[in-house]
Amino acid sequence: ARKMILDLDTGIDDTLALAYTLASPEVELIGITATYGNVRLETGMRNDLALLDLFGHPEVPVFPGLDHASAKSDFAVSKVTEFIHGRNGIGEVVIPDSARKAETTPAVDFIIDAVHRYGEDLVYVPTGPLTNIAAAIAKDPTVADEIGHITLMGGALTQPGNVSPCAEANIDQDPEAANALFHTHAPITMIGLDVTHRTLLTHAETAKWRALGTPRGEFLADMTDYYINAYAVNAPQLGGCGLHDPLAAATAIDPTLVSTIDLNLQVDLEGAFRGRTIGDPKRINEPAGTTKVAVDVDRERFLGLLMERLTALASA
Ligand code: BDR
Ligand code: CA
Repeated sequence: ARKMILDLDTGIDDTLALAYTLASPEVELIGITATYGNVRLETGMRNDLALLDLFGHPEVPVFPGLDHASAKSDFAVSKVTEFIHGRNGIGEVVIPDSARKAETTPAVDFIIDAVHRYGEDLVYVPTGPLTNIAAAIAKDPTVADEIGHITLMGGALTQPGNVSPCAEANIDQDPEAANALFHTHAPITMIGLDVTHRTLLTHAETAKWRALGTPRGEFLADMTDYYINAYAVNAPQLGGCGLHDPLAAATAIDPTLVSTIDLNLQVDLEGAFRGRTIGDPKRINEPAGTTKVAVDVDRERFLGLLMERLTALASA
């Protein structure tokens, strides 16, 4: 199985991405690197460890990442984010703390070591701000050339943003990190709002998990219902909750779920456009580099896979 690292700001849809990955025989999750965003770093790590126990995978290590953006000195969770993910990040659903602790090795060093060990065989899936991977590449630039693939959730090319008219949340948290990453030659697939706002879940699906009558099924249903209810208030036009992070995980495992265009991307860093992902005008005449931007998705197939895999995990 291909090796995978999830970089999570755990988060409801991050939790769904974790569940999807654990239910996928094609990949081996060799570690979670924790980041901030939907929750503070400490809360995210607490959730990661508790969720790995709940999902029956206490062997997976969790590594502490950086706890704020490269260009800032601290981080606080926004009120809007608390409304969408709950103050505990998992929709106010209570699950027991793990008896395990996070590793002491920093996430950045774990990423660098894993890239040198597994190279082409390693896929890295960030579903929060890109602070950790940008720091790893800054510390060891060979990471960008040796890593197998980076399939990230973030950005928006053909759609408006979700935190400002042009910025998506994960890019908005650390635009400098994202911009630095898009200027490397790392092989990247960007799973942005262009595709994640087309893959939605509703109460009809969560009811199926609840009907399983298992602790995992009930947890997934209660947590995801919180997220669906928040979307009904904040983005009623969508008709469900965006499956952002699980789509990134699923695409990392099966790239044929999306169609992409090759683009030299940049992130705008100034003024009202700060956080926008857009083609780099300075590189418009250069051959397209190694970033692929997903612009279409086989939503039926993805939703089928998501329901099949999460239902299997929740049935046990
Ligand atoms: C992204 O922002 C976070 O709230 C979600 O977990 C997802 O990664 C969507 O813009
Ligand atoms: Ca996320």
